[in-house]
Amino acid sequence: MADHAILAGKRVLLVIAGGIAAYKSLELIRRLRERGVTVRAVLTEAGARFVTPLSVQALTEDTVYRDLWSLTDESEMGHIRLSREADLLVVAPATANLLARMAGGMADDLAATVLLATDKPVLVAPAMNVRMWQHAATQANMALLESRGVLRVGPNDGVMACNEYGPGRMAEPMEIVDAIAGFFAAESHRPLAGRRAIVTSGPTHEPIDPVRYIANRSSGKQGHAIAAALATLGAEVTLVSGPTRLPDPAGCKVVHIETAREMLAACEAALPADIAVCAAAVADWRVDGASDRKLKKDGGDPPALALTENPDILATLSRPGERRPALVVGFAAETGDVLAYATAKRARKGCDWIVANDVSPGTGTFGGSDNTVHLIRADGVESWPTMPKDAVATRLAEAVAGYFEGK
Ligand code: CTP
Repeated sequence: MADHAILAGKRVLLVIAGGIAAYKSLELIRRLRERGVTVRAVLTEAGARFVTPLSVQALTEDTVYRDLWSLTDESEMGHIRLSREADLLVVAPATANLLARMAGGMADDLAATVLLATDKPVLVAPAMNVRMWQHAATQANMALLESRGVLRVGPNDGVMACNEYGPGRMAEPMEIVDAIAGFFAAESHRPLAGRRAIVTSGPTHEPIDPVRYIANRSSGKQGHAIAAALATLGAEVTLVSGPTRLPDPAGCKVVHIETAREMLAACEAALPADIAVCAAAVADWRVDGASDRKLKKDGGDPPALALTENPDILATLSRPGERRPALVVGFAAETGDVLAYATAKRARKGCDWIVANDVSPGTGTFGGSDNTVHLIRADGVESWPTMPKDAVATRLAEAVAGYFEGK
């Protein structure tokens, strides 16, 4: 459970949308206020069918904001000021309809307008029927919102008011309080503030001709997660990404490239930096003299592709010099003798740390969600348990922060 002392004095703008779970939001207001949080509430028209404005008003001891077109509301507290005077916006319950309106950038009532006009962090607690939650539209809306940095708590599995069972139940009030406390705790833990980081991620595509290319199966999951984790700890991150199917992580500057040479140029343009993490699966070779016209079958032999070596981005960034980042981290994907090969790779590339993993078929690492890694530093090896790539990223970002704290 997050440390609740961090909540005292914080200001939450609570948006209550129209779902049966709205009754739990009354409890949420009480729990937050007990912890010294100032809660101001926006109630949607549908929300007011589930809880009365009077209850919300009594619990917040403030006006309940309901109407975008109310002259009194707008003159006393315009929709811009509502978000400006909050540290965090919490949407609970977040209905399928409101999530869709948020994803679509609609501003058709006070709640949606406040959520569109805000530059403050937003936490949503979805609550809806299991089928509505699992619907492709809702899942796509939620994924889009999360890629834009919207935080989420729940929904939980359970029996719902409609007597169906599955995910869709709003998180319990105390879980939402914990998520809010967790957000403020993370916000105050920014040991990498003021540090600049470059992260490479994904595969590269090396053209054969204008329509064909050589590529590899890297998903970019690990690199993108590292970029996000460094940004969460306060670093100013430039993510240089090859073609992936992932959304740009929130809070990072993302440069999209295709080839290894473009990746190197983008990394060099992002210097100076304190940290470089090379997680990309850079193609070792490119086609020498790729054709600028589509190769045609002309009945003869298939074309012979001559390959030439690509620049090594990790080795280039590791080269001693004024612009060398203080900490350069490489990856070593191996299929046997992981520690021996990776240790040798660390020396050969000249980087400070190597994150080594076993990508043998059957480990599920390549393209999968979990990773089992060893962190190889000058002073030894640390083997981490198998964990989700997000968790590997968080732990690596903490290790990076520890490195700079120790300096
Ligand atoms: N890397 C890079 N630029 C390249 C090739 C690799 O920046 N052109 C980086 C990767 O991002 C990763 C590390 O180097 O951090 C992995 O190197 P890898 O290609 O696996 O090692 P190699 O030196 O090619 O050794 P081998 O292929 O023999 O395993």
